[in-house]
Parts: sequence; structure tokens; C-alpha cells
Amino acid sequence: MTYAMNALQVLALLFVLVLGIIVLAVVIFYILDKIQTGDAIRRNYPVIGRFRHLFTDLGEFFRQYFFAMDREEMPFNRAQRDWVARASKGAGNTVAFGSTRNLAVAGTPIFVNAVFPPLDDQFAMTAPMIIGPGAAIPYKAKSIFNISGMSFGALSRPAVEALSRGAAKAGIWMNTGEGGMSPYHLTGGCDVVYQIGTAKYGVRNKDGGLSDKKLRKMAENPHVVMFELKLAQGAKPGKGGILPGSKVTAEIAEIRGIEAGKPSISPNRHAEIDSYGALLDMICHIREVTGKPVGVKTVIGSSDAWEEFFGLINQRGSECAPDFIAIDGGEGGSGAAPMALIDLVGMPIRDALPRMVDLRDRHDLKERIRIIAAGKLVNPGDVAWAVCAGADFVTSARGFMFSLGCIQAMKCDKNTCPTGITTHKRHLQAGLVVEDKYKKVAHYAKSVIKDVEMIAHSVGVTEPRLMRRRHVRIMQADGSSLPMNKIRPSYNPGTDM
Ligand SMILES: Cc1cc2nc3c(=O)[nH]c(=O)nc-3n(C[C@H](O)[C@H](O)[C@H](O)COP(=O)(O)O)c2cc1C
Repeated sequence: MTYAMNALQVLALLFVLVLGIIVLAVVIFYILDKIQTGDAIRRNYPVIGRFRHLFTDLGEFFRQYFFAMDREEMPFNRAQRDWVARASKGAGNTVAFGSTRNLAVAGTPIFVNAVFPPLDDQFAMTAPMIIGPGAAIPYKAKSIFNISGMSFGALSRPAVEALSRGAAKAGIWMNTGEGGMSPYHLTGGCDVVYQIGTAKYGVRNKDGGLSDKKLRKMAENPHVVMFELKLAQGAKPGKGGILPGSKVTAEIAEIRGIEAGKPSISPNRHAEIDSYGALLDMICHIREVTGKPVGVKTVIGSSDAWEEFFGLINQRGSECAPDFIAIDGGEGGSGAAPMALIDLVGMPIRDALPRMVDLRDRHDLKERIRIIAAGKLVNPGDVAWAVCAGADFVTSARGFMFSLGCIQAMKCDKNTCPTGITTHKRHLQAGLVVEDKYKKVAHYAKSVIKDVEMIAHSVGVTEPRLMRRRHVRIMQADGSSLPMNKIRPSYNPGTDM
């Protein structure tokens, strides 16, 4: 009995103490809110005003679970993400009852099914394609769908490792992004495209220029199959790479040749490339030094500006052409980018791709320059659309991040990614188990390719690269649809009949 009374007394005392602490905290917050001058809501509604910030922060997380519809969120909606998640598990990717997609939205691509599609035994898998036939060591690319550039720095060590091993398993290439080569890119033994960003991390000399010695050494690695000179990326045209100081670990600093803990900001342009002539000179130089195919990556502001580029290639001779042009849509992603650029600068891929394909074809360079497209092309329908528009290859960055388990927390620039993909904090990386994730990367790539082949089959051709603009209709605002070749006829209409 006495024991119970004592216990009750202790509990009562605890209750009064906790209550007292709460009242004291409220008084302190009240005073703090009243005297601070930066936040009008907290000044006018002390203490209660603080909940606004709390709910705004929590809303960002809860919207996707409770409130947003399947096709509502940005940059990627739940339907797109779920498709990747299911594909990554390698299980069947069927859905039931009916499409949740509103097919009446203007711009929606609808593929044109053939009345009599080829029989299953007439159908072929996507054939490999040669890039850079004139290079000393051309690249025979097996896969139509590959991993777009993301640096070790933007991505964590286990993420890069899982991508490398997954890429090897699926037979696709992986692009290093602009942060140089880490040992983790090579873990899986996949084909690697080495990106030369404006800071030339990994291949630069002391004054920031290109080091031929380092470049040659990089090219000696048999896994490095091509070099990509980055002019710009869709998320931040006109701005260089940005890696916040919190993500520049000692290892990343060592690989990039910079100081640890300080932001890694690369120049907004290659200092030595200020004209198309200089660009072609640089492409030829890199190809000569490395012996491997060389291309450029950029985002298109206006395709008219590139007319001169193709003209100059023909003047100089097609041997000086880039072996590929990787076109990034203005909707492309980034580890960190200013909102003004991510939102408003650079043509979306749906507009840029057909324009650039036409420009290339009009200059009779179709067989010489391969076009690689990226920009939210993460589901098979997106990839098939790009192939119809004329892309030779499609790459994705965020699609592969989803296959690694990305939940679109949008924290890539904070070093606090909850899935371990874009953080260098060990305890968060613990969630990303390479042994499991690399299989998901491979499953995802294979599923996309398989479904693109299925769409090709359905529209009546035996191989994806035989799809043409006439095979996809684009929904119009009035509810009708038009074949893409009527909206944007190919330069060579014969191919679009
Ligand atoms: C985390 C992250 C890091 C990236 N890093 C690079 C980079 O180093 N170099 C580059 O050219 N593009 C970079 N990108 C852009 C992608 O390569 C790609 O062009 C763009 O995101 C479009 O593809 P997606 O829509 O499939 O993500 C990055 C994108 C993300 C999401």
C-alpha cells in the first residue's frame, strides 16, 4: 500500500515537473518569438506560429503518402516511380483494371498499334550500334538504354558501386558524371563513359587545362569506352557543377584535386572553348589522344544556334564531327542547381530532340553522329517516344536513382538523403545494400528495354530502332490526336511514310 502511495507521489511530482517545463518552454518561445524581427508570423502569433513551419516541413513528406493522386506529383509522380520500383524487383510489371493516366492531356503520346503486328518469332532484340566508327577504338554499344552522368560526390560510394555492378549485369554503360573516376565506378567492370566537365576533374593539369598525359592514362583503362565533353546540363545551363562543401569528403577532394570541406564549383564554361570551331578542335584533340569515341553533352536553348555547328562539320569534313551528341532536356535533374535555372532555362527534351535530329539529318550526318536523349525518360513509353523521335540511345539518371530506392525526398544537395543514395553519412548509407541494389539496377534497365521492344512489336516493327514518328500520335488540346510526323515531319520524309 505504502509502496503504491509512494509511486503515485513520484508520478504526481513528475507530472508537475513536466508541466512546469512545458510552461517554461512556452514562455521562453513566446519571448523569443516576440523579440525576433525576421519572421512576421511568429512575431504576430508567438509560439503557435511555429507550427506553420513544422507542418510545411512535414507536408512535403506526407503529401506523397496521403494526399497526392497517382499522376499528380513533380518531378515524378507516383505512377512513374512505382513502375520503376516494380520493374526493379524483376517481378512481373502488370497492373489491373485500367489506366490511371488521363489520356486526354495535350502532349500525351499514344503509340499506333499495327493491325497485324509481327509474330513473336519474327521479333528481334535491339541490335548493338557502333559509335565513333572513325575512332581508333570504336564503341559497339549493346544497349539502347543506359545510365546518364552522376558524379561520385553527388552520389554516395554504395550508390556508384551498385550502379556499376548493375550496369555490368545488364550490359549497359554508365557515365561517370563530371566528378572524375572513382574506384567504385570500376567495381562492376561495366562499360564506362568518362565525362570531362568544365573543371576537368581527373584529367586536368595545374592551370585547369586538359592534361593529355592524364587523359591518355584514363583512356588506357579498357572499361572506359567513350569520352563525353560536357558543355551544359539541363538543370543548370550556363552554370558549372555544384557540390556543396558538406559533401566534399577527403576522398572526393582527392579524386577531384580540390580542398575537402569546401564547395566544389566548376566553371560555367570550358575556358578554351568559346566557339564551334574551338569545340570541334577539342573533340578532335581528345579523340586523337584517347583513340576512343568523343561526344558532347548539352542542353538546347535554340536549335537554330546549332545550325552553324553542323554546317562547320560539313565544311571541315565529317571525320572531325563529334561521335555523339547527348541532349539533356531542360527538365533534367541535378544534385544541386539554382531554381531559376532548373525551372526556366533550356528546352524540354520533347521539343529539343526532334529539332536536333532534323538538323543532324538535314546535314546528312545521321550515320555519323549518334543522338543520345535524356530528360525524365524513365518509363518505357518515354524511351519509346524518344526512339520514335529519332534518338539512337536514351539515358537516365533519376530512373536509376529510383531503382536504387530513391523516394524523391529532394535532399540531394543536403547530404541527408534518407535512402543513402546522395549522402556521405555512413549511417544513412547503411540503408543502401549494394548486394541487393545492383540487381535492382539491372532489373530496371532490362525491364525498360523489354517493354520498349514490346511497344515496337505492338506498333508493327521488329526492332525498336525501326520505330518512326508516324508510330506515335500526340494528343491535342481539342481531344484529337495527330501523328508526330505531321506535327514535326522528319527531314527525310521517306523514313516517316
Ligand atoms: C544527382 C544527380 C547528379 C547529376 N550529375 C551530373 C553530372 O555530374 N554531369 C552531368 O552532365 N549531368 C549530371 N546530372 C544530370 C543527368 O545526367 C541527366 O542528364 C538528367 O538528370 C536527365 O536525366 P533524368 O531526367 O533521367 O534524371 C545529374 C543528375 C542528378 C539527378
